[in-house]
Amino acid sequence: MAPEKDPDELKKGFCWKLCQSRLCLVLVFLGMAAGIAVSVPMVLLSKSLRERFAPDMKWWQKTIVYQIYPRSFQDSDDDGVGDLRGITSRLDHFQYLNVKTIWLSPFYPSPMRDFGYDVSNYVDVDPKFGNLSDFDDMLKTAHGKDLRVVIDFVAGHTSSDHPWFQLSQNRTSPYEDYYIWANGTTLPNRTIVEPSNWMSVFGNSSWQWSDERRQYYYHAFLAKQPTLNYRNPTVVEEMKNVIRFWMDRGVDGIRVDAIPYIMVSEDYYQDQARNYTATAVWTKPAYYITNLTKNVPDIGDIVKGWREVLDSYEDSDDDDDKSRFMIVELYDTPEVRNRYFEYGADMPFNFDLVTALDNHYQVHGNFCAAICIRDAINNVYDNLPKGKWANFVLSNHDNRRAASRMGELYVDAVNMVLLTLRGTPTTYYGEEIGMEDIFVSYQDTQDPFGKKYGPARYQEKSRDPERSPMQWDDNKNAGFTNSSHPWLAVHPNYTHVNVEWEKNSTNTTTLKVYRDLAILREEPSLQYGLLKFTDVNPDILSYLRSAEEHPHFLVVINFGQVPVTHDFPGALVNRGQGRVKVVTSQAANEGRFAKDSSVPLTQIKLQPGDGLVLELAESGK
Ligand SMILES: *[C@@H]1O[C@H](CO)[C@@H](O)[C@H](O)[C@H]1NC(C)=O
Ligand SMILES: *[C@@H]1O[C@H](CO)[C@@H](O)[C@H](O)[C@H]1NC(C)=O
Ligand SMILES: *[C@@H]1O[C@H](CO)[C@@H](O)[C@H](O)[C@H]1NC(C)=O
Ligand SMILES: *[C@@H]1O[C@H](CO)[C@@H](O)[C@H](O)[C@H]1NC(C)=O
Ligand SMILES: *[C@@H]1O[C@H](CO)[C@@H](O)[C@H](O)[C@H]1NC(C)=O
Ligand SMILES: *[C@@H]1O[C@H](CO)[C@@H](O)[C@H](O)[C@H]1NC(C)=O
Ligand SMILES: *[C@@H]1O[C@H](CO)[C@@H](O)[C@H](O)[C@H]1NC(C)=O
Ligand SMILES: *[C@@H]1O[C@H](CO)[C@@H](O)[C@H](O)[C@H]1NC(C)=O
Ligand SMILES: *[C@@H]1O[C@H](CO)[C@@H](O)[C@H](O)[C@H]1NC(C)=O
Ligand SMILES: *[C@@H]1O[C@H](CO)[C@@H](O)[C@H](O)[C@H]1NC(C)=O
Ligand SMILES: *[C@@H]1O[C@H](CO)[C@@H](O)[C@H](O)[C@H]1NC(C)=O
Repeated sequence: MAPEKDPDELKKGFCWKLCQSRLCLVLVFLGMAAGIAVSVPMVLLSKSLRERFAPDMKWWQKTIVYQIYPRSFQDSDDDGVGDLRGITSRLDHFQYLNVKTIWLSPFYPSPMRDFGYDVSNYVDVDPKFGNLSDFDDMLKTAHGKDLRVVIDFVAGHTSSDHPWFQLSQNRTSPYEDYYIWANGTTLPNRTIVEPSNWMSVFGNSSWQWSDERRQYYYHAFLAKQPTLNYRNPTVVEEMKNVIRFWMDRGVDGIRVDAIPYIMVSEDYYQDQARNYTATAVWTKPAYYITNLTKNVPDIGDIVKGWREVLDSYEDSDDDDDKSRFMIVELYDTPEVRNRYFEYGADMPFNFDLVTALDNHYQVHGNFCAAICIRDAINNVYDNLPKGKWANFVLSNHDNRRAASRMGELYVDAVNMVLLTLRGTPTTYYGEEIGMEDIFVSYQDTQDPFGKKYGPARYQEKSRDPERSPMQWDDNKNAGFTNSSHPWLAVHPNYTHVNVEWEKNSTNTTTLKVYRDLAILREEPSLQYGLLKFTDVNPDILSYLRSAEEHPHFLVVINFGQVPVTHDFPGALVNRGQGRVKVVTSQAANEGRFAKDSSVPLTQIKLQPGDGLVLELAESGK
């Protein structure tokens, strides 16, 4: 498994750090003064101090990333829609949680046909969310609380309301080729049809006729989201300037939206071949072999260019880690994902846990349990390129919430997995309190993707259920807004699934478990130590996290549907006992395990959903 080799890679930075330390200089000096060869103290030093130094990790490897969907986080002006000032007012939440990075989904001016993923101005704030000085306040306040801020970069397409598109449509220079324009194909009977059979992700042709320009333009998503033309160097520069605009304000990184779709083949007129084994209908991209419209190799140069811009902001003279972070969004196999590491992204998002949980549910009618989760995790580590860093996600604004997929009984357990793996975790807002999806009627549906499928099928596609307002307290609308019309309904569970209640309760709660995990995660073993699966069977998932010379941790979880009793000492010579550092809420509240108590590693009895993180005494001590 890859993680067993990786720590050595990470230690590369260690020698450098060692030689920077004053201690080293002092010892070297003393060594020389005593007439001893310089190499002797250096060797001694590296042997004794080696393991005590953490590897040279970047900030984005050490943090939890917390995704904020600004519409739904906190409303400050009572219009029923969340905003930037609302976010600023809630930043203490992250200090409580021990979360060090927030990522904001789009807040830019937008006609909101795809809720902000249709940008009409990249360098401003939509009035619904505030203005640039609200943004600057938010950023400054966040930095003042040692929080990093990552923003969404909707790189591939603009809104059709963007002035660039308006000017491109009427061929105003220099905007003429800012988008992907193609002539129709004229049939023998003089009918004009689309240049090729390329399909949009939202269904049907991705070519849209413009009466004004009398040409087709390409859109990977909605027709009102025209795709930019990155084969035009002016566009490449414009978008680099967008990154510079936000980096100049002090933003710490970008999350690049839908990276595989930002470019298409140069030949707009070449049809895609059919995929004869595909089950998709002919109006969907997957009916074809999509190599002309997805992950085309030229994207590499574009990502490389963004990397250069981000790197130019890194101040290597400063002690602080000023590196600017880039994570790119794609749902694909490790083989395809890994190309984006090469292009210069710090990480391509890894959604394997999301898809494993989803697919398993659809195929087997129950969720992906212990063995399936282990296999999904191993698949990530086994395919991680040498020296690269993993990341894990449970849910986001496009996928069901964990509690709704797996049942509330397992919420603490999946948070436990997410926060104890080796790699950067991303948490979608509300998952730290176990929020569940809401029910939305067709009439109340907001998501255009849901609406497109009509009353019979909208529930399969609508992303409204996982976008409901954050549940802060048991006031009206869960403290999200004083408006009587929040843009989406608050979950009726908010009276007892909310931040304040979960903080106040004398019981253990999902929020407290999350926080315990987030704090414990700073332990070297959990931050960068090896990960080794120990006992895994259809019910039990267990693994060891270990960094030399630091306390080791054993994670044990029952993902099954029946109680199990299990002996864990097999892999752990000399360790008969473990100290409970984190315990899932039901196990704590029903008195099965208490934090900081010592438990023998034999005959551990776990109810479904029970999970423990046990600290192991060092062997021989
Ligand atoms: C930005 O909005 C805030 C209210 O959210 C207001 O106080 C401030 O004057 C505005 N600033 C500018 C430059 O418009
Ligand atoms: C092109 O469109 C832009 C934006 O709508 C408009 O300002 C401009 O006058 C138009 N130019 C011509 C030549 O029609
Ligand atoms: C569209 O047709 C015009 C006129 O025939 C031609 O000049 C132009 O190159 C064509 N555009 C594309 C993208 O094929
Ligand atoms: C022209 O031919 C195409 C393809 O055969 C057919 O689908 C279309 O209906 C015809 N249009 C007219 C106006 O006859
Ligand atoms: C595709 O187009 C057909 C015919 O216009 C329409 O009935 C269908 O709803 C469209 N499907 C989607 C997903 O847009
Ligand atoms: C064709 O579709 C099948 C079934 O969805 C899929 O597994 C396969 O990867 C596709 N092939 C290509 C070349 O896209
Ligand atoms: C795309 O796939 C088709 C069918 O497998 C293949 O013939 C073609 O060469 C591929 N094109 C590119 C640009 O990779
Ligand atoms: C709602 O109104 C109360 C009382 O006026 C106020 O304290 C609170 O801040 C308001 N909340 C929001 C989200 O606007
Ligand atoms: C929340 O409500 C749903 C029904 O909408 C119910 O099934 C679930 O058990 C409730 N969850 C909690 C934590 O009370
Ligand atoms: C939580 O505790 C605070 C301070 O003790 C108190 O003001 C508040 O009413 C409590 N809230 C709940 C929901 O119990
Ligand atoms: C604490 O948890 C126990 C066991 O689940 C439950 O019976 C009790 O009502 C809870 N108490 C509070 C204050 O929530």
